[in-house]
Amino acid sequence: MKKALKIYLILLLSIVSCKKEKAVSIETVDKPGTFSKNAMVVSAREEASKIGIATLKKGGNVFDALMATEMALSVTYPFAGSIGGGGFLVYRLADGEKGALDYREKAPLAANKDMYLDENGEVIKGKSTIGGMAVGVPGGIAGIFEAHQKFGNLEIEDILKPVIELATNGYAVTQMQHERFLEYDSLFVAVNGKPILYSKQIKPGDTIRNLKLAETLTRIATNGRDEFYKGKTAEILVDFLQNHDGIITLDDLSRYQAKWRKPIEFRYDNYNVISMPPPSSGGICLGQIMTMLEPFDLKDFGHNSVKYIQALSETEKRAYADRSYYLGDPDFVEIPTKMLLSHVYAQERMADFTFEAATPSDSISYGRIAGFESDETTHYSIVDQFGNAIAVTVTLNGAYGSKLFIDELGFFLNNEMDDFSSKPGVPNMFGLLGAEANSIAPEKRMLSSMTPTLVEKDGELFMSVGTPGGSTIITSVLQTILNVVEFNMPMQKAIDQKRFHHQWLPDEIRMEPNGFPKTTIKTLNELGYKTNESRSPIIGKVNGILILDDGTIEGGADKRGDDTAIGY
Ligand code: DON
Repeated sequence: MKKALKIYLILLLSIVSCKKEKAVSIETVDKPGTFSKNAMVVSAREEASKIGIATLKKGGNVFDALMATEMALSVTYPFAGSIGGGGFLVYRLADGEKGALDYREKAPLAANKDMYLDENGEVIKGKSTIGGMAVGVPGGIAGIFEAHQKFGNLEIEDILKPVIELATNGYAVTQMQHERFLEYDSLFVAVNGKPILYSKQIKPGDTIRNLKLAETLTRIATNGRDEFYKGKTAEILVDFLQNHDGIITLDDLSRYQAKWRKPIEFRYDNYNVISMPPPSSGGICLGQIMTMLEPFDLKDFGHNSVKYIQALSETEKRAYADRSYYLGDPDFVEIPTKMLLSHVYAQERMADFTFEAATPSDSISYGRIAGFESDETTHYSIVDQFGNAIAVTVTLNGAYGSKLFIDELGFFLNNEMDDFSSKPGVPNMFGLLGAEANSIAPEKRMLSSMTPTLVEKDGELFMSVGTPGGSTIITSVLQTILNVVEFNMPMQKAIDQKRFHHQWLPDEIRMEPNGFPKTTIKTLNELGYKTNESRSPIIGKVNGILILDDGTIEGGADKRGDDTAIGY
């Protein structure tokens, strides 16, 4: 890429990142929950939730609805979505069997540890986030086909038919979507070298048809998952990437496999939490934080009180410090999961904590474990009429991923390579630090924060929950679960609450603006906590499903987005 173009892109990127900070008004009116008797789908778009529910009504189960919903999101929610990216699934069958599927992107075979560094060993700004070099080998299609092959009921062509119709006939652009298209348009044009499908002056209410994506999905429906990894689609994809500085080859695509993994499970009071294992940090970090929190009487402290914020922030700091040191792709690094999740270790980590003053982050490092060597994503939750449940979080990483849009196939490609640690001590786009465990290597999966999570109460399904939000995913899932189990909130109310976040470094509590009393913030500051209300206008976009005592299913869709719950 020409130097001048690179500089221009970097400049644009910083403008767009700044724009992301602009205030988004979160309605103050309460959003009512959505209630049903049989089944529920909650996703980032109404069209996707509708197609998911229609799939269930045809006799499909959660895994059929997964394919339908996720592909409908790839049509209507190009901001995130998985066809050019990847994701994670956590499931619980009606008989109590649990599992997890990893369809995270991988580093290409030609990747190497220093691929984002210049000759002086400095990180080259933008190289891991925009354009062809940022793209990881996509896992989305492998994932949905793997889940379907193991558990699905319906024929693939029947599942994808309404999705293909949606891409062909179009969908209406929402106000939020319109604003995002406008915001990113100059970057789309700069990265792709020409306007793309979303570059036209699209107004709210206009219809977008994505005929190329309809063709891609039709070929996939007919030829199966190999169409994407070995067929015509693979050839177009590789050809496109090689013309855009990319290094992914046909060999990379044909070697890609989704992987079944054992979920992370831990107890919190009388709840059993089931979440995503590495290569996501979500399950382990959530487990560490909740294990460190368990001895405190959070309910007594009061929701979003000073003591509550202190307890959560201090446990979050310690878990994120461990995350940056210990966690990475389990196929490449040894992870001391058992120790990290143990009560003994949790106690040790919190030994220096006191409510009298903040523990400065620079005095916190990763914990010592004996014998051990050393903003876009979207979440949907589905419960079906058979009692099966899934929590699925998928991503392109940044908004519209690498911003590379393949006209001929109709989708954006991820920039997931930025989730690796390009250089120890240099933060990625979410400010997260990494070490050797998350360094780049050929075919390695980059560490994630995505935390699709299921919760059981007394051995029965109780909740399905998850969110986008980069590094804030883990803490948003945490607060939503605590709002329900500690403060008895129903699903929608638990999601609506203002959220805060600490990730060890930078040493500050990020807070949604105007959500916390001035006195709370003042007291936290006096105790030595830095607070930041301007960094994140919104923290997370949580979607969840709760099973109420009488068996009613409540869907909660975050009002911070266009998210919609539909039940029947
Ligand atoms: O896997 C991860 O942790 C990130 N790629 C997620 C990115 C994300 O949530 C962006 N959304 N705001």
